[in-house]
Amino acid sequence: AGLAATGAQAQGYPTRPITMIVPFAAGGPTDVIARIVTDNMSRTLGQQIVIENVAGAGGTTGITRAAQAQADGYTIMMGHMGTHGAAPALYPNLKYDPTKDFAPIGLAAGTPIVIVAKKDFPATDLKGFLDHMKANGEKVNMAHAGVGSVSHSTGIFFNSVIKAKPTMVAYRGTGPALNDLMANTVDFMTDQIVNVAPQIQGGNIKAFAIATRERSPVLPNVPTTKEAGLEGYEVSAWNAVFAPKGTPPDVVKKLSDALMKSLDDENTKKRLLELGGVIPTGAERTPEALQKLVESEVARWTPVLKAAGATAE
Ligand code: MLT
Repeated sequence: AGLAATGAQAQGYPTRPITMIVPFAAGGPTDVIARIVTDNMSRTLGQQIVIENVAGAGGTTGITRAAQAQADGYTIMMGHMGTHGAAPALYPNLKYDPTKDFAPIGLAAGTPIVIVAKKDFPATDLKGFLDHMKANGEKVNMAHAGVGSVSHSTGIFFNSVIKAKPTMVAYRGTGPALNDLMANTVDFMTDQIVNVAPQIQGGNIKAFAIATRERSPVLPNVPTTKEAGLEGYEVSAWNAVFAPKGTPPDVVKKLSDALMKSLDDENTKKRLLELGGVIPTGAERTPEALQKLVESEVARWTPVLKAAGATAE
C-alpha cells in the first residue's frame, strides 16, 4: 500500500471523487452490486464514486491494482468470495494476501449460486442435466469469469461434486458469459443470482437449481439442489468493499458508515432484493466481521479447490 494519508487530510475526507475498482467486466454481478450500493454511498459522502472496471485473471488483476493504490480512501474496491477467498488456493504467486493487505470496509450483499444453462440445453431438469454431463464430459462447455472468480471456484466445486469434467471457457466477467449463454454459444455456468435472475424470470436461460437451503423469493419455481436430488452442493457467494491496508481509521469509519447507511436505504435494499441478493444483517456489516469472514473463507476454499485439483499456474 502507498503512504497513508495524514490525519489532517483524512479530516475533510472526501474532498474529491472516489474510485471504486470493480475487478470484472461491466454488467456482471460484482459490477451491478457495486453500482447499486455506491449510489447511496456517494450521496452520504458528498462525492461521486466512480466505478473503474479492471478485469482479468479471475479478478486478481483489479484487486492487485487496488491493493497497491494510495491508502488515502480515494481508491476502494469491490472484492468477493473469489478474490478474497478462493484466489490464494489457485494462485501460488498471488500478489496480495486477502487476510493482510486490506482495510476491510464491509459486506455489500450475499449472492446465492444458481446452476443455469442455455435455453437449448437438452435437459429439462437437474437430473437430466447431470446425466447429460456424465455422458458428454468435455463436450459440455462451462462459462466462468476467470480462474479464482466466484463462477470458476463454485464451478470447480460443482464439477468435483458431480464428478464431471466439462470444458471451461473463461470470460472477463459473467456479464459477457451470460450474453453467450443467451446466444446458445456456451452451455452452462454456476453464477451469482443477481446476474441471472432477470434472464431466468424472462425465460431466456434455464435454471436447474439454486444451491441454497431455501428457495429464493425471486425464483420461487427454481428448486434447491437438495430438492432436485443433488446432495453436497450448497454454496453462496458474497461481495464486499475493501480499501488498501493503511487507510486511516477515520476514513475507514466514514466509508463503513456510508455503506451501512446504503444497506438501510429503501431503494438500495429494493434493488438488491429484487435481484435475489441477500442484505447483510447489522452484525455482519462491520469491518471486523468482514475480516473474520475473509479469514474463514480462505480457510474453507483452499482444501475444496486443492481437492478438486484446481490450480491457475
Ligand atoms: C465472478 O466471480 O464470477 C464475478 O463476480 C463475475 C462478474 O462479476 O462478472
